[in-house]
Amino acid sequence: MIARWPLASAGVVLFALMVCYGQSQAVNPSGYGQPSGEFDIRIPRVPTAKLPAAKALKPPFKPTPEVLAEGKVIYLGRGTCFQCHGPEGKGDGGAAKILPIQPRNFTNPKFHNLRTLGEMMWVLKNGSLGQSGKVPGTGMLPIVGQFLSEEDGWKALLYERSLGGE
Ligand code: HEC
Repeated sequence: MIARWPLASAGVVLFALMVCYGQSQAVNPSGYGQPSGEFDIRIPRVPTAKLPAAKALKPPFKPTPEVLAEGKVIYLGRGTCFQCHGPEGKGDGGAAKILPIQPRNFTNPKFHNLRTLGEMMWVLKNGSLGQSGKVPGTGMLPIVGQFLSEEDGWKALLYERSLGGE
């Protein structure tokens, strides 16, 4: 696990550079983006046909203090989430500066009201193409199934939820 961590970090930076290169080639769809730099939270990231199944996904455990503590360790550690979403979940991690699409700010309760945990898990498994699928990638990679188990993914998501949601 410890040996794989630097590898994962290097992968994150490499992918971010690839995304930037892709962005310079593509034209963003009109209306793409909000003044804050974070992109429209009202548009689901899961494709419409897959949305009902994604919404039905539920975490296998409750957000107990123990689960949240484990989620925090994953978020700040081997999950690498903090590198983009920031140490406090405000979307201001070190790698965010070089991303064309800003990472989600998890301290915004409006986001948590709009998004189910199941949709968040779908993104964790499949990555996010952004609002239209026309953008080559957002920097949000598939993480569960790559270097995080589904169980650890749920823990990280419950922790993110606790930053601005229930
Ligand atoms: C390389 C940078 C990067 C890393 C590392 C990263 N994310 Fe993200 N994440 C992003 C970006 C950029 C977005 C915004 C994507 C968008 O607007 O579609 C995002 C969006 C999300 C979303 C919201 C998608 C939605 O429905 O709007 C979730 C949930 C998420 N990330 C969870 C995580 C978790 C959990 C981790 C760690 C296990 C993680 N991310 C690691 C860059 C990253």
